[in-house]
Amino acid sequence: MNSMRIIVAGGAGYIGSHVCVELVKAGCKALVIDNFVNSSPKALERISEIAGGDVELLEADLADPADTQRIIDAVKAFRPDGAVHLAGLKAVGESVAEPVMYYSVNLPATFTLVRALEEANARLIVFSSSATVYGALNENPIDEDGATGPTNPYGRTKLFIEEILKDLALADKRWKVCNLRYFNPVGAHPSGRIGEDPNGIPNNLFPFIAQVAVGRLPKLKVFGDDYPTRDGTGVRDYIHVVDLAAGHVAAIDYLSRKATPGAVAFNLGTGSGVSVLEAIGAFKRASNRDIPYEIAPRRDGDIAEFFANPSRANAELGWKATKSLADMCADHWRWQSGNPNGYRD
Ligand code: UFG
Repeated sequence: MNSMRIIVAGGAGYIGSHVCVELVKAGCKALVIDNFVNSSPKALERISEIAGGDVELLEADLADPADTQRIIDAVKAFRPDGAVHLAGLKAVGESVAEPVMYYSVNLPATFTLVRALEEANARLIVFSSSATVYGALNENPIDEDGATGPTNPYGRTKLFIEEILKDLALADKRWKVCNLRYFNPVGAHPSGRIGEDPNGIPNNLFPFIAQVAVGRLPKLKVFGDDYPTRDGTGVRDYIHVVDLAAGHVAAIDYLSRKATPGAVAFNLGTGSGVSVLEAIGAFKRASNRDIPYEIAPRRDGDIAEFFANPSRANAELGWKATKSLADMCADHWRWQSGNPNGYRD
């Protein structure tokens, strides 16, 4: 691992910034490519501060043909060993309203990155996929051989990119690919210096709860309390973003040592489910703040329960989620309370 050179596409974002910290700590050199549409350059300063080493930056848009040559030149000059690919749009609801935008950003960004890596003669990629590729087709816990059937355009971009990378690895035996299927990433770096900074009103549970706790939003809506779960609310496999980031470093290490080429998918989750009411209770304890909520109708497209079987990643990557729900809440709260407006002053 030490001294590997890794491109981090989307490296200034929520997950990407945590991946950069873990890469620098592992002794890697990172070149972040980011267009800052949903991220801040401040994250990069803070990565250096936390990890004790700088990351390089190329501000460019992987999906914009006007930037392609500049990206290829910079990637070649960096002489990478491989890439972590987290660049793309990621809001489920927006993808339903603007499907063509989602396909015309997430797919071309991947093509440009692959092309740049090929020109740099680096055929190793760890892709930021999502458990959303499974849709609602499988029994819990979900393993990687489960059926795929995402229910929205965002999820379909994740599945299509997985398939494209698989085809690439079949066609050219020099390619090694990991498709990492994240469950629900939450929390923040324990330093409180980097974390999730959503644009506008958050769609996801943890950033919403955190903004209620800090007083930025008045009240949480719990989407449905009549699901067939232990307390009637939706159950998800929340994973601490630092554990998730460590999974990327483990995946790069695994690919770099792997003798056989090809594409492999790994679930990154804890393997256990937490309900919405349990998450609210844990956040309340961690923050010592009141979290007003009301029960609201079910949200369209939600499913009752969704959690991983992470045993393939545990066995083959030698990786395991180690942080508890209390850690996720305490760290999320430290970030939110120390940075009530995210990276904005
Ligand atoms: N929830 C609420 N109120 C809210 C927000 C969420 O009750 O204001 C509930 C949801 O109904 C669900 C749970 O909290 O039961 C988690 O919802 P999130 O929106 O945080 O997460 P999802 O599981 O819906 O989706 C997330 C990511 C997707 C990803 C998917 C993969 O947002 O990008 O996990 O499983 F694709």
